[in-house]
Amino acid sequence: MRISTGTDGLDALLDGGLPQHRLYVVSGPPGSGKTTFSAQFLTEGVQNGEKCLYLTMHETEAELVNDMSSFSFGFERAVGSKHFRFMNVLSTDVQQVLSQYGSEPGLTGRVAALIEAWNIDRAVIDSTMLLQHFLEDPEDQLTEFITALKETDATILLISEMTDPSSYSEEHYLAHGVVFFHNFLEETGMTRAVQIIKMRGTPIDCDMRSVSFSERGLTVHHDEKLNR
Ligand SMILES: Nc1ncnc2c1ncn2[C@@H]1O[C@H](COP(=O)(O)OP(=O)(O)OP(=O)(O)O)[C@@H](O)[C@H]1O
Ligand SMILES: [Mg+2]
Repeated sequence: MRISTGTDGLDALLDGGLPQHRLYVVSGPPGSGKTTFSAQFLTEGVQNGEKCLYLTMHETEAELVNDMSSFSFGFERAVGSKHFRFMNVLSTDVQQVLSQYGSEPGLTGRVAALIEAWNIDRAVIDSTMLLQHFLEDPEDQLTEFITALKETDATILLISEMTDPSSYSEEHYLAHGVVFFHNFLEETGMTRAVQIIKMRGTPIDCDMRSVSFSERGLTVHHDEKLNR
């Protein structure tokens, strides 16, 4: 079954939405829309009565709500729902909660165990930078972490900043799908785009489509291909 991404215009590029219970990597440069897209994804889930988890190390719940407050897609209401859990892994309270799940030391198996125990339907992990911070051996443990997440029943977005935009990393190969957000600074101003790099089981064309921000949030213009 496919589920809506919550972003207008994107489901049309994905043959109706994202195949459920899978893990997707969302990549792109700073400010390209990764967090906004993720907030829309979880808001859509809450609105459908699904259990949602936002796991981050970048900001507090109040900061995230504030960052999304200029959009009207209903993030603040979603965050306030009993179906929504926000966790900042830098918080000692959250570390305490996580330590009750899974068995290994560290974060690797614990997040996946928590997702299973709480019957989470949609999860966002913002971002892989979080792992470099928490894992003793990030390269080996990233594979373990992603493998454990793929075995859960949740549909997961793993945000991955790309340190080198021309090189793919392990998470791009391990994921069921990869979505790229772009922002190019051009003479005429900022051009924004989205590109589906891969989506197992779904016919895609990999072409870039125009993206815009408005008070409603991020919108994909699926009929506007960018030729670059
Ligand atoms: N109406 C708007 N409301 C809020 N942000 C907007 C709006 N229009 C454009 N933006 C811009 O959209 C961007 C939102 O980016 P977002 O936080 O989703 O990106 P990101 O890819 O997660 O970035 P980072 O890598 O820094 O976490 C911001 O840079 C913001 O300035
Ligand atoms: Mg972000």
